[in-house]
Amino acid sequence: MGRFQGRTVIVTGGGGGMGVEICRTFAAEGAKVVVADVNMDFASRGVNALKQQGLDATPVAIDVADRDNVEKVFGEIAQRFDGIDVLVCGAGVRRMAPLLDHSLEDWELTLRVNLTGVFLCSTVAARHMKRKGKGSIINIASVNGVRACEGMGAYNASKAGVISFTQTLACELGPHRVRVNALLPAQTETPMIAEQVGEERQRREERIPLGRYAQPSEMASAIAFLASDDASFITGHALAVDGGYLAFGFRPSVYG
Ligand SMILES: NC(=O)c1ccc[n+]([C@@H]2O[C@H](COP(=O)([O-])OP(=O)(O)OC[C@H]3O[C@@H](n4cnc5c(N)ncnc54)[C@H](O)[C@@H]3O)[C@@H](O)[C@H]2O)c1
Repeated sequence: MGRFQGRTVIVTGGGGGMGVEICRTFAAEGAKVVVADVNMDFASRGVNALKQQGLDATPVAIDVADRDNVEKVFGEIAQRFDGIDVLVCGAGVRRMAPLLDHSLEDWELTLRVNLTGVFLCSTVAARHMKRKGKGSIINIASVNGVRACEGMGAYNASKAGVISFTQTLACELGPHRVRVNALLPAQTETPMIAEQVGEERQRREERIPLGRYAQPSEMASAIAFLASDDASFITGHALAVDGGYLAFGFRPSVYG
C-alpha cells in the first residue's frame, strides 16, 4: 500500500519532463493519476510510458489559462474519480529576452500560463477539496521566483507571483484542512532547459553547491512528500529543491 492509495491526483503539465516523473511517483504509490496537458500527444506519451512499467494513469487535454476549460475538466475528473485529493500545478512556459526587449505578447503568455493558470487550477480544485474537507496543492514555482536570472524577467515575475499566491491561498484554506505549498526547483534535466549545454551549462553547475543539475525524480519525491500525510503540518511553505543554489553567495578565489 502506497501513501496515495485510492487518492485522485491531477498533475498539470503532466506530459512534460518533470510532469511525467511526478505522475510516475504518485502512480507507483497507488494514486489514480490524471496527466493533464495542453499537448495531448505529450500526455498520451506519458501515460504510455507509465503503462509500460505496469502503472496506470489517465491522459486529459487542458489549457490551464482557460477558466471554462479548467472548470469543465476538473468537474469531470471529480465526478469520475470521487473528488480531487491532490493537485500539482506544473504547467509552465519560459520565454527568454532582456526586459527592455520583452514583447508584450511573450510577457502576457508567461503570466497567463505560469501565474493565472496556477490561480485558476488551484482555486477550482480547492472548491472540490473544501467539499471533501481535506486536500493538498503543490504549485511548482522556481528559484527564479526569489533570485533574479537575467533574460528571464517575465518568468521570474510569474514565479514570484506563484510563491505569494501560494502563501495567501494556504492562509485562506487552512481552516478547511487544505494545505498549499510551493516547490522551488533549480535547474532540472527536462526539455525546458535543453538548450543549456557546454560552457553555458558548466557555468550554471558551478553556481550550484552540489555541482550538478537535478533529475526530475528528485523534484517528484519532494512533491510527493509535500502532498503526503508525512507533511500534515506543512502549509504556506516554499520548499527549495536546489542543490544549495539559494544558499550560495560568492566563492572567494582563494578556494579556486
Ligand atoms: N526544468 C527546470 O529546470 C525548471 C526549474 C524550475 C522550475 N521549473 C518549472 O517546473 C515546471 C515543469 O517544467 P518542465 O521542466 O517539466 O518543463 P516542460 O517544458 O518539459 O513541461 C512543461 C509542460 O507544461 C505544458 N503546458 C504549457 N502550457 C500549458 C497550458 N497552457 N496548459 C496546460 N499545460 C501546458 C507543456 O505542454 C509541457 O508538457 C514548470 O512550471 C517550470 O517552470 C522547471
